[in-house]
Amino acid sequence: MQISPVYNQEGRVANQVIVKRDITEDKRLESIAEAANLMDNIGFIFSSIRHELGNPINSIKVSLSVLESNLEVYDTEAIARFIHRGLSDIRRVEYLLKTLRNFSIFERPDIKKTDMQALLDKLIQLTEKDLAKRYIMLALDLPKAPLYGLVDPRAFLQVLLNLTTNAIAALDETKNRTITISLIHNQKNQITFVFEDNGCGMEEDTVRNLFRPFFTTKAEGTGLGLVIVKKMLAKMNCSITASSQKGQGTRMEIIIPTA
Ligand SMILES: Nc1ncnc2c1ncn2[C@@H]1O[C@H](COP(=O)(O)OP(=O)(O)O)[C@@H](O)[C@H]1O
Ligand SMILES: [Mg+2]
Repeated sequence: MQISPVYNQEGRVANQVIVKRDITEDKRLESIAEAANLMDNIGFIFSSIRHELGNPINSIKVSLSVLESNLEVYDTEAIARFIHRGLSDIRRVEYLLKTLRNFSIFERPDIKKTDMQALLDKLIQLTEKDLAKRYIMLALDLPKAPLYGLVDPRAFLQVLLNLTTNAIAALDETKNRTITISLIHNQKNQITFVFEDNGCGMEEDTVRNLFRPFFTTKAEGTGLGLVIVKKMLAKMNCSITASSQKGQGTRMEIIIPTA
């Protein structure tokens, strides 16, 4: 509804012009579009979960059936092989369920003033053994003055662990394996948190699909790591962008509000 006054010659309000427009139909179409969009996504997510769980479960079924019908003829070694195969499929299902649980764990993050350097110390503690074993160097580029971000430290650490896991995989074939983390107090009074690796990098197409649920280029991947990363960061009012060049490496840039 739009209301405009109509003035008389003395400049007093003599009348009003009211324009009313019925937006019921607009609203209805809008909500249909929204629902259709949501249903599209739900359909896609359900079919992906069905696929991800269905494959290993089917494979367990096959292993057990083969075992059952050959129990008399198989020697211990063959039986052990089938049990081993079944167990590794079960671990795959467990892993997927754990990953899905991570979606809801940080539904309501506990955002507080966080010393970003201290957070990096925690990351180093948790990853240094793994990185050393794979000959990966972790280089830090930090400002002298401490930087305080407004994040949930536990959720943010989870984000960094996910990025580290991806970087480790990307560095598999690289010679001088390096992960570089830089913290910058930017001009908008935010923290620019840069996480880089000099690993295999990605095709443009991969970069475009990076944050899509179940998008993975790995045989054993879930394609959920970066979806969770993005969701957790959004909950903490942070943003993430990725850039990459095939054969050169990958750069993730996170913008964090300061305390
Ligand atoms: N640092 C990286 N370097 C190269 N490719 C990456 C990197 N991080 C992610 N990717 C690509 O993005 C895909 C999706 O990553 P992610 O959501 O963590 O799922 P997953 O690791 O299970 O495949 C990966 O399969 C990989 O192709
Ligand atoms: Mg991953």
